[in-house]
Amino acid sequence: MIVLAFETSCDDTSVALVQSPNKVLAVRSASQDQLHEPFGGVVPEIASRNHTLSILPLVEACLSEANISVDQIDLLAVTSRPGLIGALMVGVVTAKTLALAWNKPLVGVNHLVGHLYAPFLQSESGQGPFPPPEFLALTISGGHSALYRVAKFDHFELLGETVDDAAGEAFDKLAKMVGFGYPGGIHVDRAAQTGNAEAFKFPRPFILEERLDFSFSGLKSSAHRLISQMSPEDVLKNRADICASFQEAVVDSLLAKLQAAQKKTGIQLVVLTGGVSANSRLRQRAQEWAQSVGVNLITPPLKYCTDNAAMIGLAGLLYFQNGRRDDQSLSPLPGSLPHDFIRA
Ligand code: KG4
Ligand code: ZN
Repeated sequence: MIVLAFETSCDDTSVALVQSPNKVLAVRSASQDQLHEPFGGVVPEIASRNHTLSILPLVEACLSEANISVDQIDLLAVTSRPGLIGALMVGVVTAKTLALAWNKPLVGVNHLVGHLYAPFLQSESGQGPFPPPEFLALTISGGHSALYRVAKFDHFELLGETVDDAAGEAFDKLAKMVGFGYPGGIHVDRAAQTGNAEAFKFPRPFILEERLDFSFSGLKSSAHRLISQMSPEDVLKNRADICASFQEAVVDSLLAKLQAAQKKTGIQLVVLTGGVSANSRLRQRAQEWAQSVGVNLITPPLKYCTDNAAMIGLAGLLYFQNGRRDDQSLSPLPGSLPHDFIRA
């Protein structure tokens, strides 16, 4: 089966062709980072407008790269939730229109389920076993930070989540405070490589508690207090140390809960996914932990960590193979559906 997939839930327009079971034939994305950067965050109207400009040329680029004709496509998959409603609308309307015009089945995909399966896309740097046995996933992005137990496809158990900001949001806010552009996670990561992680003390909320939830807003306020007491010159002078200390606090918080969840469930396959899983310090420390306890840790290649349509294609195939179908009544939703995830 070949699926044509669309992702427009935030500011990246992405289209992909994925062949079952998990092979990416083509993935083409148009980043809007430069358009949103002057505003320090995503402007929904700008995102929607640019999705409409990019989406069909990306479909054509994918078809020609993979040398696939419309006749060979068996399914259309599209992110229909959660996300910015106007942005999602562009992908959903495009997928519905093509499904109608080409007379192909259609399936709406939860964006977070896409992230959960990104580590299982076939890739040059190796992927998780497919189909995966039971696994534990830490999904960390600009809008979400959560821990899931996936027993089988369609059994997504939410073990814990952020009670306030997402990890990526925390990185982006710190980046802004120290004068980096948007999105700032990658800049904080790079600056931290030459910084001292013990230079400043930042809080690690919930770290001693049994619950598997995260909180990053106290960390953000603590950084804000520190930075507002410094002169702009001192902030620049200490930027690498601030970034390294802040990053260490985020990584400590994420890993403490991941380790606790692994211990509690005994699951041997663990994946990191979402834009923040590109963080080099997190990858390094997670890998060290996994080796020390003998857990199989899978992190997707960077191109599949951030938002992309290949992960939506793989999730779409799995939805379809599990009997899910959508029709022309498919609508974008800002949040997940109640049955998408089970709260543990
Ligand atoms: O998954 P994603 O592309 O989009 C959402 O669904 O949100 O994640 C984007 C987030 C941004 O907050 C970005 O700053 C963060 O991932 N990010 C990073 C790194 N690369 C991207 N955060 C920390 N370190 C990185 N290397
Ligand atoms: Zn995402």
